Amino acid sequence: MHNEEKTGTLHFDLNTGAKIPSVGLGTWKAEPGVVGQAVIAAVKNGYRHIDCASIYGNEKEVGVALKELFSTGVVQRSELFITSKLWCSDHAPADVSKALSKTLEDLQLDYIDLYLIHWPLRTKPGSVGLAPENMAPLCLSETWNAMEGLYASGQARAIGVSNFSSKKLQDLLSYAKVPPAVNQVECHPVWQQPALHNLCKSAGVHLSAYSPLGSPGSWVKGEVLKEPILNEIAEKLKKSPAQVCLRWGIQSGHSVLPKSVNENRIKENLSLFDWSIPPELFSKISGIHQQRLLRGDFAIHETASPYKSLQELWDGEI
Ligand code: A2P
Repeated sequence: MHNEEKTGTLHFDLNTGAKIPSVGLGTWKAEPGVVGQAVIAAVKNGYRHIDCASIYGNEKEVGVALKELFSTGVVQRSELFITSKLWCSDHAPADVSKALSKTLEDLQLDYIDLYLIHWPLRTKPGSVGLAPENMAPLCLSETWNAMEGLYASGQARAIGVSNFSSKKLQDLLSYAKVPPAVNQVECHPVWQQPALHNLCKSAGVHLSAYSPLGSPGSWVKGEVLKEPILNEIAEKLKKSPAQVCLRWGIQSGHSVLPKSVNENRIKENLSLFDWSIPPELFSKISGIHQQRLLRGDFAIHETASPYKSLQELWDGEI
């Protein structure tokens, strides 16, 4: 971790030599109409990292907000770290570069800091949704090869994956010419992923946590912010349970991507750098009952999908 005096945030190192800010604004489920002002509020309050994806359906609005931030001099492009993700219907090698071009057009950028394969799942080109009739045979090696082309072109300054189990990450590492810089996965105190953490650490792959608060208020089951241990720690430290979740992530060595469209919570989620969770409280968090909340049931199908069960999708890490 490195101090960054200007914004008060911290960075982690990527295997490309670049630095990834430890807190990024999540934009999944940030509705069009509100996501733009959330991005502006976040950057004005010191965020330097925005996590996007084409499937979120809001990259155009994020792009308008970024343009405004640049044109009004709030921040320069080089100060921001922007991530986006390749959707499942764009896995065919010829479509990978087209998909990034579309994302860059929507975001009004000429490069992306990090481009991720969103899921280890492929659907037919042009199809919408993940219904069984849309599924296509997965070939991660050819998709990764096309991602390597984007890295070589400089359009993607780092490439990586998302929702990869330890086994899938190991498989990728066995044939990748450019190793993934990041694996972005569900990670919070109720789903800590210690085995994946250890693999990432030893392989030099940075782990980035989506849904670091357990996605409260959505269809996602489980109430991470109501966990008694987190609330006990929050009370002792005079912080919110959300801040304890996020600080736990950073202290564990991974970046966190909390989504919020509310300026007070956006600020709260970045107020993590002038305090820490002391070791005796930190160790209590490892005792929390573990449960994967975003299980990816949509990816499971007896015949159409490469995964007949959640066990297969996550290679036993469920
Ligand atoms: P909102 O956008 O209204 O702030 P996750 O990042 O784990 O997916 O969680 C996102 C959800 O958590 C959103 O519903 C968001 O609502 C809510 N949220 C974000 N920050 C906080 C916070 N500090 N305390 C409570 N809820 C929060």
